[in-house]
Amino acid sequence: MDHKITMENLQEIIQSIPLLSASASRLLQVTANPDHELEEVISLVKTDANLTARVLKVVNSAAFGLMTEITSIDRAISYLGERIIVSIAIGDCAGKLFEKELSGYEAAGGALWKHDLRTAIAARELVVQSGADISPDLAFTAGLLHDIGKSLISDYLKDTAPDAVSQISSQDSYDYLAAEEKLVGIPHTVAGYELAKAWQLPNELCEVILHHHKPSEAAEEARALTYAVHLGDNIAMLGGFGTGSDSLQYHLDSGYNEYLNLPPKVLDSVMLEVDIEFQKLEQSLEGMGG
Ligand SMILES: [Fe+2]
Ligand SMILES: [Fe+2]
Repeated sequence: MDHKITMENLQEIIQSIPLLSASASRLLQVTANPDHELEEVISLVKTDANLTARVLKVVNSAAFGLMTEITSIDRAISYLGERIIVSIAIGDCAGKLFEKELSGYEAAGGALWKHDLRTAIAARELVVQSGADISPDLAFTAGLLHDIGKSLISDYLKDTAPDAVSQISSQDSYDYLAAEEKLVGIPHTVAGYELAKAWQLPNELCEVILHHHKPSEAAEEARALTYAVHLGDNIAMLGGFGTGSDSLQYHLDSGYNEYLNLPPKVLDSVMLEVDIEFQKLEQSLEGMGG
């Protein structure tokens, strides 16, 4: 494919993608509300037999090394935490989008999931460490979804990775987003944002997806969260886990200081923490969308 994507094409692509299940959609809405109770999450999961089965399978997987099997869904959810429940729900509905090979970015299957999972862990940890008034679990979800637009435009970007990189090095394009826009008409941020709207994701998540490379442009109520994901994304890329040809081909906005109190020492420890947590989660969530 070598033609540009119009907004109309993009809507067609989005219509070909399954909607989130009702329970996944509700779960994202509920957990985005800072005042929600764990009970609401538990009763939502209980309405979905597939999700319940998956949650029990994950909690009893070897990665968590429990001595006795957990058979109660209430206990499983308390033990795993909301972010893992949300990951399982997203993976069940949209796993294929995360697992597909992104040939437009010269990235193997699964690379997006790994990058997103690392970004999610880092964004959550940054929020925790900074003491910002943001839900750490919401930061995790936002990290997980931030680059979803790549799987929508990747096929159209096929064979353009060398052009994109050379446009940036010759300063014809400011960053990979600008290169995507020149090459196929729509950057992955806009593609992801349109999908997020079609999925009726909470507004904060839509903002993060659209602005994660330019967090200062996010709506004020979502800006600190967007900075956390922006930094988390960079930590994932610096750790060697980008999604392929675009890794580190963006600009870091150092204005995060205004929103997140993060001394440099903390940033180093977050990098280490991401590695440790990633090993555990990757193993326990293995087979996501596969
Ligand atoms: Fe991105
Ligand atoms: Fe990213």
